[in-house]
Amino acid sequence: METRAALIIGVGAEPGLGASLCRRFAREGLHVFACGRTAPRVEGLAASIRASGGRATGFAADATRAGDVATLFDLVQGETGSPPALVVFNVGNAVVRPFLELDPDHFEQAFRTSCLAGFHVGQQAAGRMVPAGGGTLVFTGATASEKARPPFTAFAVAKHGLRALAHGLAREFGPQGLHVAHVLVDGLIAGDQALSRMPALADRLGADGMLDPDAIADSYWHLHNQHRSAWTLELDLRPYRESF
Ligand SMILES: NC(=O)c1ccc[n+]([C@@H]2O[C@H](COP(=O)([O-])OP(=O)(O)OC[C@H]3O[C@@H](n4cnc5c(N)ncnc54)[C@H](OP(=O)(O)O)[C@@H]3O)[C@@H](O)[C@H]2O)c1
Repeated sequence: METRAALIIGVGAEPGLGASLCRRFAREGLHVFACGRTAPRVEGLAASIRASGGRATGFAADATRAGDVATLFDLVQGETGSPPALVVFNVGNAVVRPFLELDPDHFEQAFRTSCLAGFHVGQQAAGRMVPAGGGTLVFTGATASEKARPPFTAFAVAKHGLRALAHGLAREFGPQGLHVAHVLVDGLIAGDQALSRMPALADRLGADGMLDPDAIADSYWHLHNQHRSAWTLELDLRPYRESF
């Protein structure tokens, strides 16, 4: 059992990938730090993990703010005595809008949420984890990380940028012991976002046509445990019957 910390940035409602990652890593014995912008959500999730015997702390922060991200890493270090062993950057609210209806604010918001926030997290993670001996840093991507399709063009620009960030960090910090991976989630996650915002699509796809967030979390745990002679940089995951 590990005794170190996992920091998950981008934890929302349940069911959802962020929450599944928190529960999975807590089950493995890590002290989980769950971060999202909505305090009651992350604190409620942390309380429920603690109630089932795990160690968890919820913390509300906005990852687009450099100061919030630094405070988050300070909190982990303060509570556990060392930087996290595992960090997941999971933030990513899709911007879904036809191009001519996008205003510059939407475009900038998409960039800030994925690229700028990912930059802050990457800088804190590499700056603290590398001197402490390394660890694992995973970025969550989407179909839009590789395909730019309307009405997801702004989101695709942001997710392509995040993927580039992950690849650059992997090449710079991999040789220093930081395993950086990018997970391309190619399909709809059976979580609150899809079930509440796209109920008709979720219904049409059915449980078998969407990705189960707990199953995705299993793959993240595997990435964290890979032997350093065989590290994955890019992992793509999709339902077995997805056409792609
Ligand atoms: N949902 C899908 O079908 C789908 C498909 C493919 C890929 N993905 C990717 O998978 C990841 C997780 O998606 P999910 O839908 O399952 O959501 P989730 O993991 O349940 O929650 C992610 C949460 O991140 C939080 N967040 C947003 N902006 C933030 C910020 N600036 N700082 C800190 N936290 C922030 C939001 O909660 P608050 O609003 O409370 O902060 C959001 O609910 C995302 O990267 C997404 O792009 C999702």
